[in-house]
Amino acid sequence: MKIQNKEYRTIWYEDDVVKIIDQTKLPHQFVVKNLKTVKDAINAIKVMEVRGAPLIGGTAAYGIALAAQENTDYEFLKKIAEELIRSRPTAINLQWAVNRMMKKLLGINSNKILNTALKEAKEICDEDEKFCENIGINGLKIIEEIYNKKKDTVNILTHCNAGWLATINWGTATSPIYHAQKKGIPVHIWVDETRPRNQGANLTSYELNEEEIPNTIIADNTGGILMQRGEVDLCIVGTDRTLSNGDVCNKIGTYLKALAAYDNNVPFYVALPSSTIDWDIKDSKNIPIEERNSEELSHVEGIDENNEIKKVLIYPSKSKAMNLAFDITPAKYVTGLITEKGICEASLEGLKNLFK
Ligand code: MRU
Repeated sequence: MKIQNKEYRTIWYEDDVVKIIDQTKLPHQFVVKNLKTVKDAINAIKVMEVRGAPLIGGTAAYGIALAAQENTDYEFLKKIAEELIRSRPTAINLQWAVNRMMKKLLGINSNKILNTALKEAKEICDEDEKFCENIGINGLKIIEEIYNKKKDTVNILTHCNAGWLATINWGTATSPIYHAQKKGIPVHIWVDETRPRNQGANLTSYELNEEEIPNTIIADNTGGILMQRGEVDLCIVGTDRTLSNGDVCNKIGTYLKALAAYDNNVPFYVALPSSTIDWDIKDSKNIPIEERNSEELSHVEGIDENNEIKKVLIYPSKSKAMNLAFDITPAKYVTGLITEKGICEASLEGLKNLFK
């Protein structure tokens, strides 16, 4: 998608380095950063220079390739793989991508390991782009149906950033929106700010602006009253891990939005590529929920009058803060899952019909 009218993907390999768009600098500065070693890749995932379930999967895949630039021994790569998987615990795409890489490299001659790893990492990224495009084609039908009844702008609420910046391209939750815009359907997006890191305000609103999609940032607590007033036609969010029973783990605050949507009969859809499905964990209590540094709550970042990014303390200095990064939305509150293969019920039966 576009930034300043130039087409980008979020990650690519060029001149022996992996290039990423540093998301910790957005929306104030657009910086393309080089990842030269696997340590750089692990750090980029940990500090969220790259983020979003599919993109951390793609970065981890390239991380294995960067490790193979240093050493092609399979046992060495296995240790790196474990380290990469530990870098962020909740999004299953990371573990999925690393496992796929290691499976591909098993038994490969050491002089072919690097090329095979680079090819597979690109393949994982290309596939994600294609899957996200298909999510858009499938999800477009939902927006179209609402528009055909309403004959007026479709108001869509989204949480966090499940846009193209969280994937390789297109995004998951935003892909149906981009496809609707291309078809000439008027849309307007309510963008949840998404405290504490403000991925909605900093990233979703930014990328929608760059694509000229009308959007309004709202505080995370505003969605409820907008739904009561009939000002939300549809919610679409992404997910970091969806269980085979349809329970959805996503950015903290998603659950509360789903409850409000349920109470107000607003359709609540979750968009995901199949790499986000966890077929193994059966009970959502067993999903590892990342707890991040409380400084993400107590401090906020912005630009000062000299265009410098500054971080300031906003809480009483003695107060404790707690920062759980994800929550679980039970399947019963999910109207449907929008996947690359079609839309299904958030249930084992629904998912099995599409994927098994
Ligand atoms: O902590 P983040 O910013 O990595 O969390 C991202 C989300 O929760 C997204 O909604 C999710 O990864 C889906 S991305 C297409």
